[in-house]
Amino acid sequence: MDDLKSKYLGLIADAGDEAALEDLRVQAVGKKGEVSLKMRELGKMSPEERQVMGPKLNALKDEINSALSAKKSALADAALDERLRGEWLDVTLPGRPARQGTIHPVSQVTEEVTAIFADMGFAVAEGPQIEDDWHNFDALNIPPEHPARQEHDTFFMHRADGDNRPPHVLRTHTSPVQIRALQAQGAPIRVIAPGRVYRCDYDQTHTPMFHQVEGLAIDRDISMANLKWVLEEFCRAYFEVDKVELRFRASHFPFTEPSAEVDLRCSWQDGTLKVGEGDDWMEILGSGMVHPKVLAAGGIDPDQWQGFAFGLGIDRIAMLKYGIPDLRAFFDSDLRWLRHYGFASLDQPTLRGGLSR
Ligand code: DAH
Repeated sequence: MDDLKSKYLGLIADAGDEAALEDLRVQAVGKKGEVSLKMRELGKMSPEERQVMGPKLNALKDEINSALSAKKSALADAALDERLRGEWLDVTLPGRPARQGTIHPVSQVTEEVTAIFADMGFAVAEGPQIEDDWHNFDALNIPPEHPARQEHDTFFMHRADGDNRPPHVLRTHTSPVQIRALQAQGAPIRVIAPGRVYRCDYDQTHTPMFHQVEGLAIDRDISMANLKWVLEEFCRAYFEVDKVELRFRASHFPFTEPSAEVDLRCSWQDGTLKVGEGDDWMEILGSGMVHPKVLAAGGIDPDQWQGFAFGLGIDRIAMLKYGIPDLRAFFDSDLRWLRHYGFASLDQPTLRGGLSR
C-alpha cells in the first residue's frame, strides 16, 4: 500500500499536463485501476483483515484523488500564469491621443457638394488655377472689349519683358473648366468642377482667393427644367431640409443664354438662417443654358447638343449652412477658429451616412 502511494503521488507530482494526469487517474483509481483492483480483493479477505485494509484502501484512494485534483488546478494555474505573462498589457499607458486637427469648412462643403452631385451622376473635372485668357474669357464668349472682363478684378501673371502674348491669369471663376472638360471628353457630359478662384477683392464677404463649384450637363435634349430639378434636389440635400423653394430670376452671363440667377426662400431669425420658409430670398448661384458659342469653343456642335451650366460659391454656401459670419476668417489659419468651425476628420460626408452629422 505504501508502494502504491509513493508511486502514484510521485507520478502525479511529475505529470506535465492534464492528459498525463487523466492517464494516471485511470491507471490508479479508474474502474480497472490498480487501487480499484486492490479494493476488489477485500471480498476475499477475512473480516478482520478487511476491517484493517478497507479504511486504508479508502484513505489511499482519497489521497490519490485529492493529489490528482490539486495537481489539476496547479496545472491550470500555471497555464494561466503562462498566458498572463505572454499577454501582458500595461494598462497604465496613456490612451489614444486626442484627435489633432479638423477638416476645414471649405473641404467639408466641397465633399458634401461632390457627394450630392455624384449621386446624380456628375463626375468631378479639374482645370489649372493659372489659366490662359482664352479659356478664362474668350472661349466663354467674353471677348477682350467685353465689360465682364473688367468686372472680374482679374489678377494677371507677369510675362517676360518683350513677350507680347496676352498674360496668363489666375482664373477668376471655375467656368473655364467647362471648356476643358468639353475638349477632353466631348458630349454627352455631366461634370462638376470645384476649386479655387481668384479676384482682387477684400471685405467681409470677399477674399482674393475663394472657391466655386461649376456644374455642366450637356446632352441632346437637356432643358431649363432639368436645371431647375437638379438645383432643387441639390439645395434640399445640401441644406438638409425636406422642402426648398427656388426662384429663377432672369439675368445675364455671356456664357449662357438664357441666364438665370437663382434665389432660395429663407428666413433670418436672430441671426440664424432657415431654408425653405420665411419671406426672404437669398441669391445662391448663377446658371443658364450653355451659349452655342461656348459649346463650339469646347469643340461641340451646338446644333446637336445643348445643356445647362451653373456656378456657385462654396465659401458662401458654407457660411450660410454653418453660420460663419466673416469670410476672411476662413483663410487666417487661426487655430481657435479652425477648432470651432472644423469637422471631425473621420466623418466623411455621404448621402446615406449624413452630410454634416
Ligand atoms: N462664372 C460665373 C461667376 O463667376 C458664375 C456662373 C454663372 C457660372 C452662370 C455658370 C453660369 O456656369 O451658367 O460669376
